[in-house]
Amino acid sequence: MSFPFVRGRRLRTSAAVRAMVTETHLSPSDFIAPLFVMEGEGIKEEIKGMPGYYRYSIDLLLEEVKEIYALGISSALLFAKAADDKKDNAGTEAFNPDGLMQRTARAIKSSTPEICLMTDVALDPYSSYGHDGIVKGEEIDNDSTNEVLAKMSVSHAQAGADFVAPSDMMDGRIGKIREALEKEGYVNTGIMAYSAKYASCFYGPFRNALDSAPGFGDKKTYQMNPTNSREAIHEILLDVEEGADIVMVKPAVAYLDIIKLAQQNVNVPISAYHVSGEYAMIKAAAEKGWVNEEEAMLETLIGIKRAGADLIATYYAKTAAEYLRGK
Ligand code: PBG
Repeated sequence: MSFPFVRGRRLRTSAAVRAMVTETHLSPSDFIAPLFVMEGEGIKEEIKGMPGYYRYSIDLLLEEVKEIYALGISSALLFAKAADDKKDNAGTEAFNPDGLMQRTARAIKSSTPEICLMTDVALDPYSSYGHDGIVKGEEIDNDSTNEVLAKMSVSHAQAGADFVAPSDMMDGRIGKIREALEKEGYVNTGIMAYSAKYASCFYGPFRNALDSAPGFGDKKTYQMNPTNSREAIHEILLDVEEGADIVMVKPAVAYLDIIKLAQQNVNVPISAYHVSGEYAMIKAAAEKGWVNEEEAMLETLIGIKRAGADLIATYYAKTAAEYLRGK
């Protein structure tokens, strides 16, 4: 049976009907708010390439976390900007119990204990080479990096992290991290694995935020080739098997098909990272008056959720939550 008996427009006749048949809903608890912390006091610095997004010293970051949580955002993902003199090729600062990351995690968990705090686990902010692992010759050495990532994860758990979020793409690191957490008694510390993380140009502004761009070469020997989708499922299934509680696809907008595939292939929650360059593109077009920022933001986030993401890490978390609150 078809036209005129079937008319798609009947379900679009009024705002009430459109609301009744809305398939995808956004809620503040879908969002993970990325946070950047730096040393100092009273500092709130705008990040180059990320208009309206800031790096904070611990004191001001604590206020920001309170606001985020009050808006209904359940989770924050913490990145620390290491000072240049703390960088080496062994990731020593990464597991320093008094490092910036660990101090910030403790401070957040004592001022806003209810928030689910996730911490970034990767060596690039601490690496004199700006790579996510230990450099040997021209190579990023997998297995010695895993040892450091495991120690780093335990130090984050000790500092109060609810989830660790390994963003490095070394092979086997989820299993090594899980094993170390279990051994130290952190059986309830979760792992959100960046399982299908692509070697993407859209990370540029983030690398400004942490001053972490690779000093030589690129990240193509560990991050995935953007042409591949079956490989993403292979990586995701391995991480689930090794003990990942949540798996991530990153970036989000250029990889909506991968999010969908992930949803069809695993039964753990799926997160997607709407990355810095994807945020920057909306900001830039809006600044030029070419798109409406609020509409572009909402349509993008809805698209990511509709593709199958349960959680979205996005620099728009706060703005979107404010919009949803105001509705
Ligand atoms: C590095 C890391 C990156 C991002 C998160 N963790 C950049 C990279 O891999 O070079 C990017 C996030 C963004 O662009 O918003 N471990």
